Parts: sequence; structure tokens; C-alpha cells
Amino acid sequence: MSTGYIAFVQPFQRASFVELLALFVLLSLALGITKAVYNAFFHPLAPVPGPKLYAISPFPISLSRLQGRVPYKFAELHEKYGHIVRVGPDEVSCAGPTSFKDLYGPRYGKGGPLTRDSRAATVKEKFGAVGMFQAGVQEHAQIRRQLNPAFSEKASREQEPLVMGYINAMVQKLRDASAEGDPVDIEKYTMWTTFDIQGDLVFGENVFKCIEQERYHPWLKICMAYFTSGIYTHALNDISPWALWIWQKFFIPKSFADAQDYHLKTTLDLVDKRMATKETGHPDYMSFVISESKAGEVLTKEQMYANAQMLVTAGSETVATAAATTLFLLLIHPEAMDRAKREVRSTFTSEQDITAASVTTLSYLVAAIDESMRIWAPVATSFHPRQVSSGGCIVDGYFIPEGSMIGIHNHAIGRLERYFKDAEKFVPERWLGDERYANDSREVFQPFSSGPLNCLGLTMGRMETRVILAKLIYNFDIELLPESRNWLDNQKNYIAWHKPPLMVKLTPVH
Ligand code: HEM
Repeated sequence: MSTGYIAFVQPFQRASFVELLALFVLLSLALGITKAVYNAFFHPLAPVPGPKLYAISPFPISLSRLQGRVPYKFAELHEKYGHIVRVGPDEVSCAGPTSFKDLYGPRYGKGGPLTRDSRAATVKEKFGAVGMFQAGVQEHAQIRRQLNPAFSEKASREQEPLVMGYINAMVQKLRDASAEGDPVDIEKYTMWTTFDIQGDLVFGENVFKCIEQERYHPWLKICMAYFTSGIYTHALNDISPWALWIWQKFFIPKSFADAQDYHLKTTLDLVDKRMATKETGHPDYMSFVISESKAGEVLTKEQMYANAQMLVTAGSETVATAAATTLFLLLIHPEAMDRAKREVRSTFTSEQDITAASVTTLSYLVAAIDESMRIWAPVATSFHPRQVSSGGCIVDGYFIPEGSMIGIHNHAIGRLERYFKDAEKFVPERWLGDERYANDSREVFQPFSSGPLNCLGLTMGRMETRVILAKLIYNFDIELLPESRNWLDNQKNYIAWHKPPLMVKLTPVH
């Protein structure tokens, strides 16, 4: 053993436990302070505006994530610091017009689009393949190409009767539920309907039967719990991958672990069953993927496992949020509701007139939906921020180094007075050419995002939201009950909004 080594080790051997502990604490402190100073002043992201506390540590933004308050926090930070803000040592938030192009665009000649943060994803271990939310550039483009036929105009036309069937069933259930004048939680009905629709489009049959049985299917409850656990995963991973490991190893309750096993098994069974039935004559996603794909371009079973849950949740909870929130905003603005009601009831003389095509002519209702999504974006945050790839990138004039996380936050964008006059007010007229709002920055309104990773189900999402609202307004006079007057206040967000019951009284008309 060298004398140098012995000289180094000897003082430690003589030290007491308390002295060693004190040394450990002092070293950790020194390391922490050095890191904090580096993060605040010498890190490549140091020039990006933002609070210093957020620049030195991931704790503040992780805390907002864990509290379900991150959309509000981003809005507050953008209000104060402008359209680009550093929200963590390695994370930046954007809410500006150019960032959509710089950040979410195709980035030709620069290695392709930035893909989503998948550092803590466990999809591959579970399913044997990654889904669209975790895929890298090439794989994402491949999956998207394979799924595209299921989301074409032609597919939407053929899927329309299936969608209408579930929405009509919802109307009928609401008629029954409100026959005695009882209050109804309409939020649940919109969730059940949209989950049933997506369940059928993904698995080829009415797998969930939520509307029929007026209850959530357990598979869906677990999907929603995944959203919340996704936020925990993200927040803890930002603090330290060790914190995440400890959480996953020791703190995930057994009941949740069992639920995950059930969910995994059910997903595999449902996909296997659907894939075994090749030609169903049913206009679900798989039938288009199979019939219109080029040779050698069909999704593998593993890819279908990995994408099934994403397709169900991406296409249902979002639509339910858009529909329920628009309804709520109309209900607390009686003049707007009157105008929507006049439009719907003067356009249609029978229930059958309400179709995917005819609802596009409801200009006021369409404007009300856009206005609702501006104020309350169904996808409020960039739930998986983009990972900056090799070479870094320039966003809104700032250099963002490789390895950083960066996202665009719709809740913040919609709230900023610098983009929208009377940003906090619900004014559908702003989308109908009202002169007072001529200077609004419409280009920043992107509730379905933009670029090669934008919403694949945009057409379906718009159609469903419009039809659900048109049918509700056509069939019922709707009254908001006092307990739901403050329905939007303090909703928590764990990727999805946690919506409380939206209690209404329905009086059937026609
Ligand atoms: C009001 C309804 C909806 C809204 C506001 C919405 C919004 C969004 C947003 C903001 C994204 C993220 C894009 C990004 O990261 O840049 C997204 C992705 C996605 N959405 Fe939607 N969505 C809606 C309905 C639907 C529907 C009905 C489907 C049908 C299944 C769907 C399928 C998807 C898929 C597959 C992706 C991932 C796309 C990709 O990675 O290429 N969405 N959506």
C-alpha cells in the first residue's frame, strides 16, 4: 500500500462517526453550492430568463407538478418573464409564436423533429416495443405512417356511424337519468361516451360498455391513474433517478402494482383478440391499418400493445374535457348559451340532421369550442417535453443545449394578455371576426399542437366535440346547479385535468 494512500486514509480511521457525518454533510453542501452557482451563472441555459431558484434546482417545478398545479405555475412564470422561461436547471418552457416552428417543426437538415422525453418510460419492458409517445425520430415516423390511414378523411367518414351510435346512446341515457328531474353529473357521461368510442375504435368492439352500464370500466380507471403516476415519475426523475428508483421500489402501493398487472394482461388480451380477427368489416383503426398499409408496413403485435392505451386515452379524455368545459363556459355565460341554442335549434329540424358534416356549419358553437380550448386547453402542458437532440437548437433566439427538456404550454399561451385581449374572458366572438379582437395572435392558438408530432386524431376530436355539444344543446335545456358554479376553479392537472362532477339539471326538449 502506498504511503500517500495511508496518509490520506489514516485521519478518517481515527475520526468518530459524528465527525465523518459532519464531513459528509459539509462535502455535500459544498457540492450543492458549487452546482447551484454553476446552474445559475455558468450553465449554457443561464441567459434564458426565469427565477434563479428554478434555475438552480428541479425542486420548485417538481413540487408544482406533484401538487397538480403546473399549468398555473407556467402561466404565472410566462406572465412575469416573457415567452421563454427557464423552469428548471435543464428545462425550458415556451409560449411564443416562433417556438412552434423552431421547436415542434420538422427541423429539416437538423436531425428531424425533437422527440418527447422518454427517459423514465418503461413501455418497452412491459410491451416489447415503444409507443408513439416514447419513440425516437425514425420509429415515430414509421408508427405514424402506419397509423395514418386510420385517421384519414375517408376513415372518419366510415367511422361516423360508430361514433354517432355511442353519442345517441349517451343522449338516451341522459333522458332516462333526468326523467324525474334528478341532477346529473354530465362530466361522467362525456367521459364514458368518449372512452366507449375510442375503446371500440382501438379494440374493434364495445369493450368498456361505460354508457351501457353507466360506470367506468376498471381498465380506464387504471389509465387515469397512469397519468398521475406519470407526473410523479417525471417529477422524481428530474430530482434524481435515484429518487425515482426508491419510489418505484418501495412506495408504489401493492394495490396499484396489482392494478398494473391486471391492466397489462387485459391490454395484451384485447389486442391479441382484435389482431386474431383480421377482417371484421368494422371501421375501427386496425381495419384501416391492415387494409391500407403497404407490404411490410403493418404494426407488429408489440407495437399495437404499446400504442393501444395511448390511443384510447389520447382520444377520449381530451374530447371529454373539451366538451364538458365548453358546456360549462356556455352555462355560466347565459347570453352565449342562448346564441348557441338558437343556432343549433334553428339549423336542425330533426336529430338525424346532426352529422359530422352539418355540425361544421355551426359557426358560433365552433367558435365557442375554440374559445373554451384557448381558456382551458385539454392538453394544458407539454405532458412529455421534447428532448433536445445532438448539437442543441436555437429557440426564440436562445441556444438550448443538447440534453435539455423543452416544451410549449398551451394553458400559459391562452392566458397571456399579450396574445389575447381580455385573455381571462370567454368571448367566442373573437373567433368570428369581432373587430375588438382583430389584434389577437391567432397563430399561437394550437390546442392540437403542430408539426410532425401534432395530434393525429384532430379531425376525430373536433368532430366528436362538436357532435356531443350539438346533440346536448338540441335535446336538452341545461341548467347549471349551484354546487358546480366554480367547476373550473382549482382543478388539478396531472397530464389530464382532474375534473370534479359537473352537476346539471336537464329538461328534455323535442
Ligand atoms: C379535443 C380533443 C383533442 C385535443 C385537444 C388533442 C390534443 C393533442 C395534443 C396537444 C397532442 C400532443 C402533440 C405534441 O406533443 O406536440 C396530441 C397528440 C396525439 N393525439 Fe390528440 N387531441 C385530441 C383528440 C384526439 C383524438 C380523438 C385522438 C384519436 C385517437 C387523438 C390522438 C392523438 C395521438 C395519437 C397523438 C400523438 C401523435 C404523435 O405522437 O404523432 N387525439 N393530441
